[in-house]
Amino acid sequence: MNIVAIESSCDETSAAVLANGRILSNVIATQLIHEQYGGVVPELASRAHQQHILPVVARALSDANIAKTDLSAVAFTRGPGLLGSLLVGASFAKALALGLNIPLIEVNHMQAHVLAHFIDERKPAFPFLCLTVSGGHTQLVRVDSPLVMEVIGQTQDDAVGEAFDKSAKLLGLPYPGGPLIDKYAKEGNPLAFRFPVGEMPELNFSFSGIKTAILYFLRDHTRTNPDFIQQHLPDICASIQHTLIQMLLTKLKRAVRETDIREIAIAGGVSANSGLRTALMQLGEEQGWNVYIPRFEYCTDNAAMIAMAAQFKYEQGEFTAQDVSPLPRMSF
Ligand code: KG4
Ligand code: ZN
Repeated sequence: MNIVAIESSCDETSAAVLANGRILSNVIATQLIHEQYGGVVPELASRAHQQHILPVVARALSDANIAKTDLSAVAFTRGPGLLGSLLVGASFAKALALGLNIPLIEVNHMQAHVLAHFIDERKPAFPFLCLTVSGGHTQLVRVDSPLVMEVIGQTQDDAVGEAFDKSAKLLGLPYPGGPLIDKYAKEGNPLAFRFPVGEMPELNFSFSGIKTAILYFLRDHTRTNPDFIQQHLPDICASIQHTLIQMLLTKLKRAVRETDIREIAIAGGVSANSGLRTALMQLGEEQGWNVYIPRFEYCTDNAAMIAMAAQFKYEQGEFTAQDVSPLPRMSF
C-alpha cells in the first residue's frame, strides 16, 4: 500500500510517501515570504502553495522512488487551517486521485499531529493523553484508538504558539519567534522575572493575559532603561518560556489525575521547544509516566503525519468523495 499525502494548512507546503507503514519521503517547502510581515499573510500563503505544490509532490515521489502509477491513495489535510491554503492542497489531491483513479482520503490536521507518534518505533499505548501545542491550537486530547479521540481541554483564546510568537514580536524578534525564544532561553535564568498568570477552569487554557502582562512589563522597564531588552534578552526569554511551560504542565498534571492515564504524548510545533521537552521528561520521571515526544521533523507541520493518519483511514476503508471541500474550522 503506497499513500502520497499533502499538507497545506498554513505556511508549509509538504508532501510525503508512506509505503506499507513506513515513511519513505517527507518534503517540506517553508514559505519565507511571511517573515517581513511579522506573521502569515493568508493570500501570500495560498499563492506560495500554488508555486510549491507540484515540485514538492514530484520530489516526494522521486525521493521515495515510487511511480505515480504505483500509488494506492492520495491523502490531504481538509482542515483546520487557512481556507486559501487548504484549497490548494485539496484541489491538487482531488485532481491527482481523479487522474489516477485511486481513492482520496481527507485528514484532520490536529488528529494528524497526534498520530505522528505512530511513525517511529516507540509508540504510546491506548488510551493515552496528548498535549497538542501549535501556532493555532492548544489541546489536551484523550486518544482511545487511532481514529477515536476527544478534546478534553483547550485554550479559550490564543494558542500557546501564538503566545510564543507574539512575545517574540514584542521583543523585536522576527516571525516565527517561538524557536528564537527557545534559543535565547537556553542562556537565561527562567526565574529572573515573573509574569502573572490567570486561572482557567477545568482543563482549559488561556494565553491572552500573559501577552498583555509581557507588554506592560516591557513598557515599564524600557521607560527607565531603553536598552532593557538588549541587556536582558536571555533572562526575559527564559522567564517567558518557563511561565508558558508551567501553564501547560499544570493542566497536564490535572488531566492525568482526572483520567488516571499515564501514557503521555506531546505534539505540534511547540513540542519542538527544548525547554518543554526537558521539563516534560523530568516531570514524567517524577510522576512515573511514560512520555512520548516526537522527532523534531514531525513536531512542526509536515505531510508524514498526514500520511500516517491516512493509513489508519485506509485500513478502515474511510475514503472521501470528490465533492469534498476544505473546512477551515474543522473539529474532531
Ligand atoms: O504545528 P505548527 O508547525 O503549525 C501549526 O499548525 O500552527 O506550529 C507552529 C508553531 C509556531 O507558533 C512556532 O513559533 C512554534 O510552533 N514553534 C516553537 C518552536 N518551534 C516551533 N515554539 C517554541 N519553541 C520552539 N522550538
Ligand atoms: Zn500544525
